[in-house]
Amino acid sequence: MRHRINSPSSRQNTAGAGPRGSDWATLKTLLPYLWTYKWRVMLALAFLVGAKLANVGVPLVLKKLIDSLSLHGGDARAIVVLPLALLVAYGALRLSTTLFTELREFVFARVTQRAVRTIALRVFRHLHALSLRFHLNRQTGGMTRDIERGTRGVASLVSYTLFNILPTLIEITLVLSYLVLHYDVWFSVITGTALLTYIGFTITVTDWRTHFRRTMNDLDSKANTRAIDSLINYETVKYFSNEEYEAQRYDHGLQQFESAAVKSQTSLSLLNTGQSLIIASAVTLILWRATQGVIDGSMTLGDLVLVNTFMIQLYIPLNFLGVIYREIKQSLADMERLFSLLEQNREIQDAPQAQPLQVSGAEVRFSHVDFSYEATRNILFDIDFTIAPGTTTAVVGHSGSGKSTLSRLLFRFYDVNAGAIMIDGQDVRSVTQASLRRAIGIVPQDTVLFNDSIEYNIAYGKPGASRAEVEAAARAASIHDFIMSLPDGYASMVGERGLKLSGGEKQRVAIARTLLKNPSILIFDEATSALDSKAEQEIQAQLKEIARERSTLIIAHRLSTIADAAQILVQDHGRIVERGTHGALLALNGVYAQMWARQQAGFDEASEALANAAELAPEVAAEVASTVAASAAASAAVRPVIEEVLK
Ligand SMILES: Nc1ncnc2c1ncn2[C@@H]1O[C@H](COP(=O)(O)OP(=O)(O)O)[C@@H](O)[C@H]1O
Ligand SMILES: [Mg+2]
Repeated sequence: MRHRINSPSSRQNTAGAGPRGSDWATLKTLLPYLWTYKWRVMLALAFLVGAKLANVGVPLVLKKLIDSLSLHGGDARAIVVLPLALLVAYGALRLSTTLFTELREFVFARVTQRAVRTIALRVFRHLHALSLRFHLNRQTGGMTRDIERGTRGVASLVSYTLFNILPTLIEITLVLSYLVLHYDVWFSVITGTALLTYIGFTITVTDWRTHFRRTMNDLDSKANTRAIDSLINYETVKYFSNEEYEAQRYDHGLQQFESAAVKSQTSLSLLNTGQSLIIASAVTLILWRATQGVIDGSMTLGDLVLVNTFMIQLYIPLNFLGVIYREIKQSLADMERLFSLLEQNREIQDAPQAQPLQVSGAEVRFSHVDFSYEATRNILFDIDFTIAPGTTTAVVGHSGSGKSTLSRLLFRFYDVNAGAIMIDGQDVRSVTQASLRRAIGIVPQDTVLFNDSIEYNIAYGKPGASRAEVEAAARAASIHDFIMSLPDGYASMVGERGLKLSGGEKQRVAIARTLLKNPSILIFDEATSALDSKAEQEIQAQLKEIARERSTLIIAHRLSTIADAAQILVQDHGRIVERGTHGALLALNGVYAQMWARQQAGFDEASEALANAAELAPEVAAEVASTVAASAAASAAVRPVIEEVLK
């Protein structure tokens, strides 16, 4: 029976390229994270209002103080009693402004930090849940920047809105109400108009500037991605002496960043100047009206001081409003990138009713599987075979024929386009991914290690494994002696991606770590290809030992290593073209028999070199081909003679 499901054609965006949603949508995404601590939020808000009331109270007390002095006509000797109560009130209000503000910070710090932590963790988990397809397309440098900036954006957004915008609004309301209630209408009109102009101007100019900032961010990520990519490819850069080229590429990015940054800075100066102009005009107008009031006798000196202090007090936070609006826009842009990562779809998901995989004998069955990475190019065609419980099936074939793809499908990194993959009769799409992957161990073609100690990397197969278990696994993978010969032994660091170890050593670490995992199903994907033949023979015996009790898929390069497999599949261009035991396939005298003959003659290594050369330089390849053919013919001719002589 053939199952048809949708092909995985929904390509995913790389990080950060998500659509620009509205800022409100981003804010709404954030709120639930804060609301988990609603009592703390409420308390913080109460402290916030308290701080603002105290703040507005200060000039009021000051006015009373001044008025109580000027009642006596400014003649100090006429003052009988010190206005002690007012002095105390003034001090207390000043203190409580700070006190309430600090209390608010104290209560709220945990809310912000917890939100940041929750979001960062969610994004991290999500990234691991995303498909291999996404990860092959992503650019690590840019993405980590996005995450870092996004979480920082959350913290600054929260503190700016709650601790600056909101308090400023409260203060404006309090001051305006007081002015309306107690003074000439001009004061509230001037203040109100100035505020509106100021806010309107700030928002308009800042919006205009935002695209400079966005360009700056994009260029920053780009330069960073380039730098990291270039450093990851350190060896390649050296091989080709391309340091200067790399530097120029990097500098090109920096240059663009430079000019965007200059534009951003210049427009900032424009904004600041405009803001100052509005504030200065408003304060002058207010002071003019107040002076006039004092002259008219409709206002006291205390009133003049009060109005003036109000204005100055109001414009201090307002002065920050510009900066804050910019920061909020910035934070929103950063957060949007972060949240857009969360919106990336999980291509591979557990089915709603997914059950853990139940392994009994571990029979693996590929049933008429078709697969393509990209809709336009099919990689596997009607792959159909069964690995009987506890037996070994080997797959051989040219590079690019789709052998490693089989292992990626068995692990369910991708879903098949047609057909099904079953383990003990359960479709891999119907069981949980965690249980599926726990049942399978792989020694991959290219092993990548964590930049940590050898011990850590081996123990990764079974977190919490004891030192004795790690050593036993290392012995079984014939790498214990090598490790002990290192100055730091098991604590030796392997370098980024394991670069300090040779290919063969890395593969042995990978073998040890898989041994520790102790899975029911094993995959060796050219697991010994990086070893020389002596080391390979040594390990081969170990691998056979390990594979004895398990269902094993060996993807092999050297045919001699799989001659005793229960079943050998010959894969070519995504199809199984021959199958059977070694003996049967030799008797068939087809593709396998030819490959075998060539490898026996040592011809294969040469032809492989040829294939590589062909990719690099087609013109040279033809020349090499004739030379190789000639020498192969020669060696074939000479071989019997040599053997004759040696007898
Ligand atoms: N992530 C991918 N996206 C697109 N094509 C891929 C991807 N991975 C592998 N391929 C292609 O699939 C084909 C089979 O690859 P693979 O299974 O690794 O071959 P093998 O292991 O037999 O050498 C190759 O032509 C390769 O270019
Ligand atoms: Mg491969």
